[in-house]
Amino acid sequence: HRSLLGIGHLETHEILYLLDEAEQWVELNRQPTKHSDAMAGLTIINAFFENSTRTLLSFEIAGKRLGADVVNMQAAQSSLKKGETLIDTAVTLNAMRADAIVIRHASSGAVALIADKVDCPVLNAGDGQHEHPTQALLDALALRHKLRERGRSEFNGLRVTICGDILHSRVARSNALCLRGLGAKVRFCAPPALMPAGAEQAFGAEVVHDFEAALDGAEVVMMLRLQNERMQGQFIPSPREYRHLYGLTEKRLALAEKDAIVMHPGPMNRGVEIDSVVADDPDISLITKQVEMGVAIRMACLDVLTRRARGVDGWSESDWG
Ligand code: CP
Repeated sequence: HRSLLGIGHLETHEILYLLDEAEQWVELNRQPTKHSDAMAGLTIINAFFENSTRTLLSFEIAGKRLGADVVNMQAAQSSLKKGETLIDTAVTLNAMRADAIVIRHASSGAVALIADKVDCPVLNAGDGQHEHPTQALLDALALRHKLRERGRSEFNGLRVTICGDILHSRVARSNALCLRGLGAKVRFCAPPALMPAGAEQAFGAEVVHDFEAALDGAEVVMMLRLQNERMQGQFIPSPREYRHLYGLTEKRLALAEKDAIVMHPGPMNRGVEIDSVVADDPDISLITKQVEMGVAIRMACLDVLTRRARGVDGWSESDWG
């Protein structure tokens, strides 16, 4: 079986395959009755060891719309609190014969560790500072819809600025890998203390510390929040200081290309990294669309990854694309 551990494990044609597969689910999700039997009889376990609103709910909705039985493990009420190790937890989930396990964990690499111990596909719903692959895929799908609406057919040469706490952001990592794979040019912007060393080499991103310079020429501006829960002695600016230097205000956005597209994975800290007047502008903001695309992308990932187990005719993972 094959798992979805990160964008770094996918070829560009596989990314495009998942985006194309998601389109049928975008259509289904817009119908009054949103149901498929594609995964009927299968069991999905969502094991979230870290808080989530969007990812957990959209994986749950995705599994249910595909006809699967979906079970959410509540980490706070689980036996982890009694000292059970992550590996023993994985072995326990495996013994229940899940057909797919979706995991969010605070430690980078924890999802890969679990994938190694179980007999079904594992989907990474965000592991520490490492990767959040379904977020990058849903962002690419939302962006592709907007580009097509504007008459642009592909990502080639698209200038994307990602600004925020890059150091702690799995979203920035997965998005840089995904967008670059699709042909976009990625620029990272963060205060020096919140920019990972070697970001240019690791992610092929241009590194700029001054936000106004980073906005110059940007066709897409993706804002990220400060991840205060992951800070380990870094200097944390106050919300007021941060907004002063790195907040996306209407005035600052005017420095980017005309009608630049604005994105944010959520949760947002309004009035800190992004102002409401920008976040809520339906002509340029994709924030709600990103959430909508999240359900379709997660349906595509669950469907594709469980095809072999379901014995879908002639299917093997190497057929992707
Ligand atoms: N964007 C995202 O991963 O949001 P949640 O933490 O609410 O799942």
